[in-house]
Amino acid sequence: MGSDPIHDVEEEVKEWAKQKKTEIDVLKKQEHFRREFLGNLSHEFKTPLFAIQGYLDALLDEDGLEDTEQALKFLKKASNNVDRMSYLINDLDEISKLESGALPINPTKFKINELIKEVFESEEIKSKKYQIQLIFKEKYNEPVYVNADRERIRQVLVNLIDNAFKYGKTNGTISVSLFGLHQQVLVEVTDDGSGIDEKNLPRLFERFYRTDSSRSRQIAGSGLGLSIVKHIVEAHQQTINVRSTVGIGSTFGFTLEKAKQAGFPGLPYSI
Ligand SMILES: Nc1ncnc2c1ncn2[C@@H]1O[C@H](COP(=O)(O)OP(=O)(O)OP(=O)(O)O)[C@@H](O)[C@H]1O
Ligand SMILES: [Mg+2]
Repeated sequence: MGSDPIHDVEEEVKEWAKQKKTEIDVLKKQEHFRREFLGNLSHEFKTPLFAIQGYLDALLDEDGLEDTEQALKFLKKASNNVDRMSYLINDLDEISKLESGALPINPTKFKINELIKEVFESEEIKSKKYQIQLIFKEKYNEPVYVNADRERIRQVLVNLIDNAFKYGKTNGTISVSLFGLHQQVLVEVTDDGSGIDEKNLPRLFERFYRTDSSRSRQIAGSGLGLSIVKHIVEAHQQTINVRSTVGIGSTFGFTLEKAKQAGFPGLPYSI
């Protein structure tokens, strides 16, 4: 049987139409994300901006400066909102640099145990503030060498630990554990806080995504931390995951490349 040229052309056109439809769907999705992003962005800026405006208006009011104590309180609140805006700008700057590749990853060989201890020291004040204990579950007292960008991994740890403080429970604990995998090291940050409903888990790493409970509890944040963390981990060709149970707590785990040279404990770590 010879081929039917009309049928062949028909198939080609169908294939072309299918391809175009896929392209249009991708563009529509991008447009949706762009609109959502701009909407979120203006909301995140408007909230502190209106607050600042409100406090300044109150101060500029006829007798706004008469009550000095009250005036100082308003100035402090206005200043907190300026801080909130500058954090937001920093985070956005960070995301756009990470996305455009303007912040290259510079891997070096370093001891992840040491970095964790350094981060714990810098988080001591928060540990007191939130009355949450930080525990490093070191299974072996040997250095664990990894190949990664030390400063970026510090940022990942700080973000995950800060979340564990914010969404953790008073008098609770945050533990960091290390596990040896075949060619990787798994770092886990576990809290015994509010936990996250299963339905929220798939969207947790999206820009600006925050769960309803963290919004309603008015915990400060703009929902950018975890998207920065994910970018950094993925820029290392590694992965990040979360598991959580409401009322019990959450565990965020990310992998790092094990440094090839000696220094890693012979025995595999186990949970
Ligand atoms: N350890 C955790 N326990 C419970 N919920 C969490 C935890 N970590 C993150 N979440 C939820 O995931 C959301 C997104 O986290 P993310 O770090 O991206 O943003 P944020 O902490 O709200 O703000 P930002 O980090 O930008 O200051 C949080 O708002 C919170 O709802
Ligand atoms: Mg955060």
